[in-house]
Amino acid sequence: MRSYARLVCCIAVLMVILGQHLVLADKDPEQLMLPTGTMTITAPPDADREPQLSPVVFDHSLHFAYSCKDCHHTWDAAGPVQSCAAAGCHENLWAKPPGTTPLGKKQVKSLAGAYHQVCRDCHRQEEKNQKAAGRKRIYTGPIACEGCHPEPHAEPVNELEMLPVPLGTLTIEAPEGVYPERAAVDFPHGVHFDYACQLCHHEWYGEYEVQGCATEGCHDQLEPDPSTRDIKDPANVYYYLAAYHNTCLPCHRDLQKERTSFEKAGITDEENLPAAGPVNCVECH
Ligand code: HEC
Ligand code: HEC
Ligand code: HEC
Ligand code: HEC
Ligand code: HEC
Ligand code: HEC
Repeated sequence: MRSYARLVCCIAVLMVILGQHLVLADKDPEQLMLPTGTMTITAPPDADREPQLSPVVFDHSLHFAYSCKDCHHTWDAAGPVQSCAAAGCHENLWAKPPGTTPLGKKQVKSLAGAYHQVCRDCHRQEEKNQKAAGRKRIYTGPIACEGCHPEPHAEPVNELEMLPVPLGTLTIEAPEGVYPERAAVDFPHGVHFDYACQLCHHEWYGEYEVQGCATEGCHDQLEPDPSTRDIKDPANVYYYLAAYHNTCLPCHRDLQKERTSFEKAGITDEENLPAAGPVNCVECH
C-alpha cells in the first residue's frame, strides 16, 4: 500500500517536473544549486520601519554540520528552496499589530522574529550544551546583538559558489574492477536530507565539490584486507563495500527496531510510525 502510494506520488511529481521542464528548460529539476560560502542577509524594506542595524554576514557552509531542514523547515528535499521572506512565509519584517490579521488565520512569525529565534537560539543552545558537556573551547555563533549586527555596519559579502546537489535517485554501482554479485542499488538521495549531509559525506565541509565515496584515497579498496573479511574490522575502513554497508545498514536497522518498539506499544498507523529504510538484501539489491 505504502509503495503504491509512493509510486502514484512519484508519477505526480514527475508530471510536475516534466511540466516545469518545459518552462525552465535550462534548469535540471533533479538538481538543487546549493550556494556554498558566505552570503549577506539584508532586511527587506518595510513599509512601516526602515531597517536600522547592520546587515548580517552569514557563512552558509559553516552551518552544513546541521540538517538543511533545521533552517529550511518547509523544504521537501525535492523542489527548490524558498527564501525565508517568500510569499506566504515570513513575509513581514515585524509582526503586525493585534487585530490586523484576518479572523481565523494564524499569524506567521515575523522575519526578524524567525531569524532571531532560529539563529540566536541555536547559538545559545550550543553554548549551553557544550558547557554542560565540559568542553573547554566553545564553538558557537554570536548571541550578542553586535556579533551579528556590527557597528559600523558590515560591508555585504556575497562570495558564493554553486554546488549541484542531486535530488532524485542515484544508482550506486560496484566500482570499476569489481565483478558484481548483486544488482546496483537505487538510492533515493533526497529522502535522506532530514540528516546532516556530513553524516555520509564525512569529509565535506561545505566546499563546492563533494567527493564520491570510492574516490582514490578514500574507500577505494576493491577487496577486503587479506587478514579479515569482517567489515567492522578497522583494517577494512577503505574497503568500499564496508563503507556502504557500515553506513547504510546500521541506521536502517536502528530505525526498524524503533518501528517495532512503536508497533509493540500499539501504534500501528503509518502516519505515527517512524519511517525506516530497507534492511533485506533484495530490497536494496
Ligand atoms: C543555519 C541555517 C541554515 C542551514 C543549516 C542551511 N541554510 Fe540554506 N540558507 C539559509 C539562509 C538564512 C539563507 C538565505 C535565505 C533568504 O535569503 O531568505 C539560505 C539560502 C539557501 C538557498 C538559496 C535560496 C534562495 O532564496 O535562492 C539554498 C538553495 C539553500 N539555502 C539550501 C540549503 C541546503 C541544501 C542546506 C543543507 C546543506 C542548507 N541550505 C542549510 C540558512 C541555512
Ligand atoms: C542549528 C544551530 C545553528 C543555527 C540555526 C545557526 N547557527 Fe550560526 N553558528 C552555529 C555554530 C555551531 C557556529 C560556530 C561554528 C564554528 O565555529 O565552527 C555558528 C557560527 C556563526 C557565526 C560566526 C561565524 C564565524 O565566522 O565565526 C555567525 C555570524 C552565525 N553563525 C550566524 C548565524 C545566522 C545569521 C543564523 C541564522 C540565519 C545562524 N547562524 C543559525 C550554529 C547555528
Ligand atoms: C545570530 C545573529 C543575530 C543576532 C545575535 C541578533 N540578530 Fe538581529 N537579525 C539577524 C538577522 C539575520 C536579521 C535579518 C536581516 C537583517 O535585518 O539584517 C536580523 C534583523 C534584526 C532587526 C530588523 C532589521 C533592522 O536592522 O532594523 C533588528 C532591529 C534586529 N535584528 C535587532 C537585534 C537586536 C537588538 C539584537 C540583540 C538583542 C539582535 N538583533 C541580535 C540576526 C541576528
Ligand atoms: C541499505 C541498502 C543495502 C542493503 C540492505 C544491502 N546492501 Fe549490499 N550494498 C549496498 C551498496 C550501496 C553497495 C555498493 C554498491 C554496489 O556495489 O552495488 C553494496 C554492495 C554490496 C556488494 C558488493 C558488490 C557486488 O554486487 O558484488 C555485495 C556482495 C553486497 N552488497 C551484498 C549484500 C548482501 C548479501 C546483503 C544482505 C545481507 C546486502 N548487500 C544488503 C547497499 C545495501
Ligand atoms: C545517507 C547518506 C547521504 C546523505 C545524508 C547525503 N548524501 Fe550526498 N550522496 C550520498 C551517496 C551514497 C552519493 C553517491 C556517492 C558516490 O557516487 O560515490 C551521494 C552523492 C552526492 C553528490 C554527488 C557527488 C559526485 O560524486 O558528484 C553530491 C553533490 C551530494 N551527494 C551532496 C549532498 C548534500 C549537499 C547533502 C545534504 C543535503 C547530502 N549529499 C546528503 C549519500 C548521502
Ligand atoms: C542516518 C540514517 C540513514 C542512513 C545512513 C541511510 N538511510 Fe536510507 N533511509 C533512511 C530513512 C529514515 C528512510 C525512510 C525514508 C522515508 O520513507 O521517508 C530510508 C529509506 C531508504 C530507501 C527506501 C526509500 C523508499 O522510497 O522507500 C532506500 C533504498 C535507502 N534508504 C537506501 C540507503 C542507502 C543505499 C544508504 C547508504 C548509502 C542509506 N539508505 C543510508 C535512513 C537512512
